[in-house]
Amino acid sequence: MLNNYVKTFINQMSRRTGTFLTEKHRRILEFTYDYYEKNRVGPLYANIERFTGATKEDVETLFPNGLNSIYTWIGIPIHSTSDICKPVANINIDEYREIYFDYNATTHIRKEVRKVLCNYYGSESDFGNPSSSTFKGRAAFDDVMQARKVIADSLKVSPNEITFTSGGSEANNLAIKGIGLKYIETKTKGHIITSQIEHPSILESIQFLGMFGFNITFLEADKNGLVTAEAVRDSLRSDTIFAAVMAVNNEIGTINPIAEIGNICRLAEIPFIVDAVQAYGKIELRPKEMGISLMSISAHKVYGPKGIGALYVDDMYNVIPLIHGGGQEYYRRAGTENVGHIMAFGKAAKCAHDEMETEMARLMDIRHYFIEQLDKFTPGYIINGSLEKRVPTNLNIGFPDVDSGALLISLNQIGIYVSSGSACSAGSKEASPIIDALGIDTNKYGAIRFSFGLRTTKDDIDYLFKYLPEIINQIKRKTKS
Ligand SMILES: Cc1ncc(COP(=O)(O)O)c(C=O)c1O
Repeated sequence: MLNNYVKTFINQMSRRTGTFLTEKHRRILEFTYDYYEKNRVGPLYANIERFTGATKEDVETLFPNGLNSIYTWIGIPIHSTSDICKPVANINIDEYREIYFDYNATTHIRKEVRKVLCNYYGSESDFGNPSSSTFKGRAAFDDVMQARKVIADSLKVSPNEITFTSGGSEANNLAIKGIGLKYIETKTKGHIITSQIEHPSILESIQFLGMFGFNITFLEADKNGLVTAEAVRDSLRSDTIFAAVMAVNNEIGTINPIAEIGNICRLAEIPFIVDAVQAYGKIELRPKEMGISLMSISAHKVYGPKGIGALYVDDMYNVIPLIHGGGQEYYRRAGTENVGHIMAFGKAAKCAHDEMETEMARLMDIRHYFIEQLDKFTPGYIINGSLEKRVPTNLNIGFPDVDSGALLISLNQIGIYVSSGSACSAGSKEASPIIDALGIDTNKYGAIRFSFGLRTTKDDIDYLFKYLPEIINQIKRKTKS
C-alpha cells in the first residue's frame, strides 16, 4: 500500500510531467512499491509484466521514462543512468584548469569569513552557550546578536525579526509549516498559492500541508520564467491563507515581481512568504517596503559556510516552531545556537551587501562577454528565461540537439563545473520542470546552467569557449549516430 507521502509525490510528478494517472498507472506503481518494500530492490520489466500484465512497451508508453520514472516516483534509488546519457566528448586540452560556473549550487568560503571561522573554532576559550548567564555565555550571546544585527540591517528590519536556522531549506519549512499549521485544526484548512517553479523545500513543505487537506494552487510561470502578480491576484480566494513565491529562481535566475505580489498580498491581508536564497546579496531586498512577511536566506550562497541560514519573520506574524525545546531564537526555533557559523554568516552577509553593487556590475559585464562568445561560437543556442529580468550571476542556455548530461560530464572532464536540471535531461520528459514550464522543447535543447561569482573572470570564459565548440560538435555527432 502506498503511503500518503509517496502518493503526494506521485501526484506531483504526474503533474510535472503532464502524465494523466489511470488505474493502470496506479496498479503498476503500487506493485512496484510493494515489491521494493519486500525485496529492497526494484522489480524488472519481467516482474511487472508477470504481476500486473503490463508489458515493457506498456510501461514505456504509460510513463515518460519507463522503469526509471516508476523508480523515481516512488523513491527507489537508481544507481545508473548510463542507459539514458549520451556518450561524452573526448577532448585534448593544452593546460588543465578548474573553472567554477556553479555558484548557484554553492559558493566557496571567502577569506574574510574563513578568518572568522578559524578564529572561532581555533579558540580554546570562545565556547560559551549564548543562553548561559556567565561572562562566556554573554560573549557568545553578543556575537550572535552582532551577526543578527548585520543581517537585519542589510534588509532594513529589526534584529528580533531574524531567526537563525540550519539553512535555506529549514527556513522555508519553518515559514510554510509555521504559518500553515496554525490552520490545521480548522475544518476547511485553507487555500495556498504558490508557483510550479519553487525550490523543493517550498514545494515539498506545501505538499506536506496538502496531505492534511489544504488546497493548493500551483501557478505556472510565463514564457519568460516569471510568476506574474496578475496570476497571484487572479487565484486569490476568500480562504487563501498565504502565498509563497520565490524572489529569484535557482535554475534560470529570473527575478519575480516581488514588490507587486507583496502589494497584492498586503491588500488581501494574507502573509507573503518569499524564498530569497538565490536573491540575497544579488538584488536589494526590503521586506518592509516590498510587502514580504517571511523570507528565507542561506549563508552558503553568499560565500559563507553550509548549514546556516535565516528566516525573516515580520513581527506582525508568529510561526509555530518546527523544533520545540528552549526559548532560543525568540521561541521560533529551539536549540543552542550554532555560534561560529552564525558569526561567519554575519561576516558573509556584510561583505555581500557592501560589495553588491560593484560586484553585480562586474558580473554583468562578464555575462555580456559570455553572450558575445556564444553568438560567435554556438549557433542556434537559446537563453532560457528572461535575460532582462535576471540576476547578473546566471545564464541558462539551451544547446540545440545536445544532451545536457553529456555536455555537463564532458565539461566536467576538462575542469569546468556547471549544472543541468537533471543528469541527462535532453530527450527526457523528466527534464527540469522549470525549463519545461517555459514551454521549451526539451527534446531539442539540452539546458545547462552557468552561474558566476566572485572568482569568475573573462579568462574563464575564454577557456570554456576554447573547447565548447568541439565538445558540442562531438556530442552532437554521437547523439545523431
Ligand atoms: C531557491 C533556493 N531555495 C532554498 C535552497 C535551500 O537552501 P539550503 O541549501 O541552505 O538548504 C536553495 C539551495 O539551493 C535554493 O536555491
